[in-house]
Amino acid sequence: MAETFKAVKMTDRVYWVGAIDWDVRDFHGYLTQRGSTYNAYLILADKVTLVDTVKAPFFDEMMARISSVIDPQKIDVIISNHAEMDHSGALPKAIEAINPTAIYASKAGVAALEAHFHMGADIMAVADGEQVDLGGEMVTFVETKMCHWPDSMVSYLHEDQVLFSQDGFGMHLASAERFADELPQHILDDEAAKYYANILLPLSKFIVRTLDKLAGLALPIRILAPDHGPIYRTEEQIGWILGAYRTWADQEPTNRAIVVYDTMWGSTEKMAHVIIEGLTQSGVEAMLMHARGCHRSDIAAELLNCGALIIGTPTINNTMFPTIADVLTYVRGLKPLNKVAAAFGSFGWGGEAVREVNGILTDMGLDVVGDGLKIKYVPDESALAACRQFGAQIAGRMAARQAPQPK
Ligand code: FEO
Repeated sequence: MAETFKAVKMTDRVYWVGAIDWDVRDFHGYLTQRGSTYNAYLILADKVTLVDTVKAPFFDEMMARISSVIDPQKIDVIISNHAEMDHSGALPKAIEAINPTAIYASKAGVAALEAHFHMGADIMAVADGEQVDLGGEMVTFVETKMCHWPDSMVSYLHEDQVLFSQDGFGMHLASAERFADELPQHILDDEAAKYYANILLPLSKFIVRTLDKLAGLALPIRILAPDHGPIYRTEEQIGWILGAYRTWADQEPTNRAIVVYDTMWGSTEKMAHVIIEGLTQSGVEAMLMHARGCHRSDIAAELLNCGALIIGTPTINNTMFPTIADVLTYVRGLKPLNKVAAAFGSFGWGGEAVREVNGILTDMGLDVVGDGLKIKYVPDESALAACRQFGAQIAGRMAARQAPQPK
């Protein structure tokens, strides 16, 4: 296997030795249409060090890539920046195969690794800011709680100026290229945003803390090496991803709206089309997504840069459509902030769905427009005029949120 899988050189002493998961399409409910990678890194310091591992089924691939550079048994140290199993699944087998002299994790990481694998391994808890001399390379550990889990930390390699950032700044993207500057920027834009929207959005206040902490430390970063997707090695792209994280975490109101809907006999769809007209004629950029045609994780990705979430559902059996319930359950968990919200839909006799959706949007803390818009059976001209007006009303609420607030 060593003949098949090779390490990728990042600096004279640092190599990528991870795995490419070309086939994964479902990452616990997130459509990973471009696959993913699980990045592990090898540092050829005097104490040879492995930073993170890979998902369990990719153990052989990681070991083969390590073997293309060095005998894995020469590894002295393993650093576990994050205990989630896409990065630690291969750790028990790696410990057995390598028998390292030291394994480091954050205090919460030590507990999480034991709770996952029950292996009784002697893992040393490192404190925030603690440094370890690897011999020719000094590493500093920086706690980054909730970026992505309580155990999350990053490791900074001083001599080579590499920041191993675990989930932070990553993306689900399988590719033959290992570096972001080898890939089209529009793909990086899409996948980085989708990753943030689906994985990190609910943790945005912790992401702000991480960004502030890293800025405060003022570590010169020549290479930013996340645990998923491509590695950043240009100043421009490192600046881009750090800036994008700041924007996504701040969730400032925008002039873009997403209308997510399902329809039974076409009435709610007609309403959706005319609400979109009302929005766009009021100067809002609007996007329409059919809940049965769009994956929930793509809806979440679109929502990231939207200032309004508008939900359309007919009433079926006294409740909302199941596809809409799916989207709402998922999006509620992502805790979007600073958004206008609205509900609409056609109904036959009860019309409970719009009320239900409005209740959920209100519980999410969004700025909900009125009681929503319900139309009985099939909309006529006056009902469609009401839809256009509803779109304009939502646009007005969005504009008010974007206006500078008086001091
Ligand atoms: Fe990629 Fe939180 O694991």
